[in-house]
Amino acid sequence: MNVARYRAPGRVNLIGEHTDYNDGFVMPVAIDRQTTAAITPRPDRLLIVRSAAHEDVATIDLDRPGGGLSRASVSESGGPLGTWSDYVRGVAAVLERKGFRLQGADISIATDVPMGAGLSSSAALEVAVGYGLLDRAGHPIDRTTLARACQQAEHEFTGTLCGIMDQFIACHGRAGHALLLDTRTLDMAWLPLPPDIAVIVCNTMTKHVLATDGYNARRADCEAGVRALADRLPGIRALRDVTLESLEANRDALPERVFRRCRHVVTENARVQSAAAALRAGDLDGIGALMRASHVSMRDDFEISTPEVDAMVESAMRADGTIGARMTGGGFGGCTVNLVRAGAAAAFAATVRAGYEAATGRVPEIYTCVASDGAGRYDA
Ligand code: GLA
Repeated sequence: MNVARYRAPGRVNLIGEHTDYNDGFVMPVAIDRQTTAAITPRPDRLLIVRSAAHEDVATIDLDRPGGGLSRASVSESGGPLGTWSDYVRGVAAVLERKGFRLQGADISIATDVPMGAGLSSSAALEVAVGYGLLDRAGHPIDRTTLARACQQAEHEFTGTLCGIMDQFIACHGRAGHALLLDTRTLDMAWLPLPPDIAVIVCNTMTKHVLATDGYNARRADCEAGVRALADRLPGIRALRDVTLESLEANRDALPERVFRRCRHVVTENARVQSAAAALRAGDLDGIGALMRASHVSMRDDFEISTPEVDAMVESAMRADGTIGARMTGGGFGGCTVNLVRAGAAAAFAATVRAGYEAATGRVPEIYTCVASDGAGRYDA
């Protein structure tokens, strides 16, 4: 059988939340949990897609891949159906539209990225399939072009107006490193993770059903803030261009809620840059304080945390060996990211599990993660 296998990782973001669609800074890590796509060419123009996680088989016609959520008769035109296969459908549609002629294929998908937990299972699916479809059709792979196409697919086919972070790190991840990314210029720097630090993800096993609405509402608040501030601060294009001083000086131009949303983004951008400096200097206490401040800002100013996420962070702060703990990802449930002194990882997990269970009555999942490479072809 002429099968080729492709993989793309999930991610955890160390710091820099909801900054990417504000032209700001992020610091994600690709993790050792991944989505795989086994792709066998077909003589026609159909993608027949199976997933180990779902029973239905999706058929996508590459000649009518559909135009996304903005089209009226979405399913008749082959657009989104509101199911898992929309990620595949969306990536195929966007790549074809960008001029990458694809080949029909049987696609078999599997994943160990927890779904809907804020670890970018959707980006991992999009990028694994996109990488594989491009490679099978003989197109050279430009990782940034692929990331942008996958982000576009997510906008059009799932309705989340996400930034570039998740798809970018799924494409550009590097073993042993965090990625400092300027989402305006796409300038990137690889920051080696100290070997004596464990990156531990704690899954609250909760997800708010309205997370997409909440995400898009936060984005709308940020954009409203930029519009209102632009009258006073000519030349700003995004919250990236606003300092805390100028934001505070123009507080009266903004509704109170919008002011707090903007303050989160402005201070979070500064925290990412300080965290990069602290990581480069080996200043672990400094990183911990920045993660703490980031969590408080997400909780109080951006209002994307939940009681479960807060309980997980508080449990982590009580454990020995914790350097820092904060919510990670889009919010409204999901996971926390924790930097822990490596020798303390097992005790950390036990303390957090007990603390979280006592506070919420729920059983968490805890993953010690290894910083991993971005998408690629692999041998089974
Ligand atoms: C989701 C989005 C990203 C980013 C994060 C929050 O993961 O896909 O683009 O905005 O939320 O930082």
